[in-house]
Amino acid sequence: MTIGLEDGASLPPATPATAAIDVAAERARTAGALGRRYFNAAGAGLMSDAVLERTIRHLRLEHGVGGYEAARAMADEAAELYETAAALLGAAADEIACFDSATSGLRSIFDALRLGPGDTVIAPRSSYVSQALRLLAMKRHAGVRLDVVPNDAAGGMDLEALERALGQATGRVVVSAVHVPTSSGLVEPVAAIAALARDRGALTVLDATQSVGQIDVDVRAIGCDALVTTGRKFLRGPRGTALAYLRRGVLDGLGTWAPDVRGAVWTSADEWTTDRTARQLETWEAAVAARLGLGVALREALDRGMAATEAHLVRLGAGLRGALAAIDGVTVADPPASPSGIVTFTVAGLPSNQVVGRLREARIDTIAIPASHAQWDLGTRGLDSVVRVSPHVYNDEADVGVLLGRVAEIATEATAR
Ligand SMILES: Cc1ncc(COP(=O)(O)O)c(C=O)c1O
Repeated sequence: MTIGLEDGASLPPATPATAAIDVAAERARTAGALGRRYFNAAGAGLMSDAVLERTIRHLRLEHGVGGYEAARAMADEAAELYETAAALLGAAADEIACFDSATSGLRSIFDALRLGPGDTVIAPRSSYVSQALRLLAMKRHAGVRLDVVPNDAAGGMDLEALERALGQATGRVVVSAVHVPTSSGLVEPVAAIAALARDRGALTVLDATQSVGQIDVDVRAIGCDALVTTGRKFLRGPRGTALAYLRRGVLDGLGTWAPDVRGAVWTSADEWTTDRTARQLETWEAAVAARLGLGVALREALDRGMAATEAHLVRLGAGLRGALAAIDGVTVADPPASPSGIVTFTVAGLPSNQVVGRLREARIDTIAIPASHAQWDLGTRGLDSVVRVSPHVYNDEADVGVLLGRVAEIATEATAR
């Protein structure tokens, strides 16, 4: 189908899987998708009406009967979240833990790994700011060796360089891998990364914040030891929610620096016992209403089907990339290995935040990603910032056509100035 550019740029044909996404139905149950073209799922995806309703209903119950009493009444449903998350990720329920952000999940996992002087963390250039800063702080304050692996020509982690880094690593070795970064549509070769790490006896902790909900993610197929994702992005849950997977085999080796009532029992003056499930890393306090809302979002993702969602988003992303590249003054900023739904670009002569502002005037929501969110990626590629476009199942070709038309106008005006 043509998407509105005069040069005839078009989206790839729909496959049977993409046909399974009923965009009109998705929009009908997502109030935020009406009246605007929302392309910021990689920031915070639009919640469905049912997710919102579930969250508010629990807040009302807390308001009416008290927070602890409300949680007790909904204990079974809260427990179901672990089953649903496990089904989505191909894990077991006791391997799932809940957090309030991907950053706090990664922080807790790396705390519990208790790396020290001479141990090594290997990271990709695609690392997100909070994890990169965490690793730099571990290097500065705890004497942990940090090896940032270069990219190959396709823009993903260079597997030969990774093999060399693993060969040179000292002490306990952890690969801090990324599936899809914040700063481009790149999809890292995570199964190959985890396999190389495993051969060396290293653990792989995967940041899947931008992939879960967008791409069909199976932790056993990937072979990672731990995974973290956030609830608010492609999963379309409420803000302040996140999930982690910890493989059973790694749970016994963990030792958090900060045991809490939820994951530990204080048994005597100097002793405590630790929950043997992934929940050992959780804290007692949690936004129960938001987690119940996340449960609804996860069930919606499963019902819709991750293969169909992935096919829809990948197709929109490929169409966007091809059409953007054909617009004068626009440069697609994604590396070659970018088959995901996230698309990044720059406009000659106009800073990315101004492009985003101009799009917003037309009720088209995108976001600018500055180099300070991805120094090892955007910084080393010499990009100050990029415009990031991230569709979801409530977006279709018509939305894409409107976005492209407006970008073309903005690019023409920018070059005429
Ligand atoms: C790749 C990636 N990892 C981690 C994060 C951090 O997620 P959170 O804000 O939930 O901590 C982000 C947020 O944008 C991200 O894009």
